[in-house]
Amino acid sequence: MVKPQALPPQRASLYERLGGYDAIAATARNLLPRLQADPQLGRFWAHRGTDGILREQQLLIDFLCQSAGGPLYYRGRDMVTTHRGMRITAADWNIFLGHLGDTLNDLQVRAAEQQDVLQFIESTRGDIVEA
Ligand code: HEM
Repeated sequence: MVKPQALPPQRASLYERLGGYDAIAATARNLLPRLQADPQLGRFWAHRGTDGILREQQLLIDFLCQSAGGPLYYRGRDMVTTHRGMRITAADWNIFLGHLGDTLNDLQVRAAEQQDVLQFIESTRGDIVEA
């Protein structure tokens, strides 16, 4: 009898491991209000209309879903174009990471997935931090 060939082990995408669309949308919806309420970061979202913020939140969800290997097509701008001129500093970035950590803990994301999320976010740092 011919032995069936074992398929190579497939690692689920980060999108799947995080829990798919709903889990990633919940992450963005948990994170954005923390950033807006932060005394140092709030300035980036000050005096913006609710609809604009909701559109941006949706773009963030789409971007994160696509980047994690999900079946979405991100239609927003690239990270350099989006953030150029905002003068986001290394200090802003570190505060952002603190809030992201709080969000991931709040939503009880497992350590392995947290690490992968942080690794991906860190890979965008050079495109976002200017000063
Ligand atoms: C300190 C860190 C950050 C700050 C202060 C910040 C700030 C902002 C602001 C103010 C906008 C709205 C821009 C506009 O409407 O013209 C924006 C858009 C966006 N940001 Fe960030 N951001 C940060 C980090 C990140 C990170 C880490 C990611 C993803 C990995 C990200 C993804 C996006 C996306 C996808 C958009 C929407 C793009 C579009 O409008 O086409 N941002 N960000």
